[in-house]
Amino acid sequence: MIARLGLLLLGLAVSLAAAGQHAGGEALQMEPVHNDVSDVASLQRGAKYVVNYCVGCHSAQYVRYNRVGADLGLTDSQLAENLMFTTERPFDTIQNSLRAADAVRWFGVAPPDLSLIARSRGTDYVYNFLRGFYADDSTVTGANNLWLANTAMPHVLWQLQGIRGLVHEESEDGAPAQPQLEELRPGVMNEAEFDEVARDIVNFLDYIGEPMQVERRALGVRVIAFLLLFLVISYMLKREIWKDVH
Ligand code: HEC
Repeated sequence: MIARLGLLLLGLAVSLAAAGQHAGGEALQMEPVHNDVSDVASLQRGAKYVVNYCVGCHSAQYVRYNRVGADLGLTDSQLAENLMFTTERPFDTIQNSLRAADAVRWFGVAPPDLSLIARSRGTDYVYNFLRGFYADDSTVTGANNLWLANTAMPHVLWQLQGIRGLVHEESEDGAPAQPQLEELRPGVMNEAEFDEVARDIVNFLDYIGEPMQVERRALGVRVIAFLLLFLVISYMLKREIWKDVH
């Protein structure tokens, strides 16, 4: 029994030590995205970016254009003009224009479908991934990523973000510091504007991961409001019914 307890304590100590080390200098800190799926303007911008910059390679095969149009308050003609570049039929799903076999030949790996990517990888991760590209001559695409080493995905938003390079700085005690990126060539946007683009994209990817969520949350509020109201009514009823018994 005591031996087992000892072992347990040892295990705990080891994992605490490991966690402590993890929290120290070298580990990369993710920045939270703080996106808001009820922000329709952000979703509209996100949809536009995704269609313009992502569906050349990625599909979102569980998502229908007309569902997006309805949720984002777009008319059929706005939908056709702004979003539908890979099809003419609003009830189609978002397919990419790339054949899987070509994708594998070009990138070595097929770009994953984006329908559930925000759920499988997490919204914060996708946000940091999109902002984490830097120039690296040793890769085929000339780009690398802080969050996915030697990624096969090119830096598709470089015109907006500009090109950044990795700097290896050492902190005062000589330990390797957190990897830093510095600007090599400016993009058309400054950092804050680009973060906003990344946030809109993640917001849209979050929304398509569960298109019902906006509705679900609104419904949740109404249900709770109803239950509260009902609580008051049933309390009044109870008082009325038991009045004569006491
Ligand atoms: C030129 C083709 C191409 C374009 C355009 C492109 N991607 Fe990718 N993407 C890829 C490839 C290839 C991978 C697989 C990367 C890997 O596994 O190394 C990938 C992977 C990803 C991943 C998964 C990363 C991971 O951790 O596995 C996400 C998220 C992603 N892309 C988002 C996007 C978004 C958002 C856009 C639009 C702004 C976009 N991609 C545009 C080719 C592309």
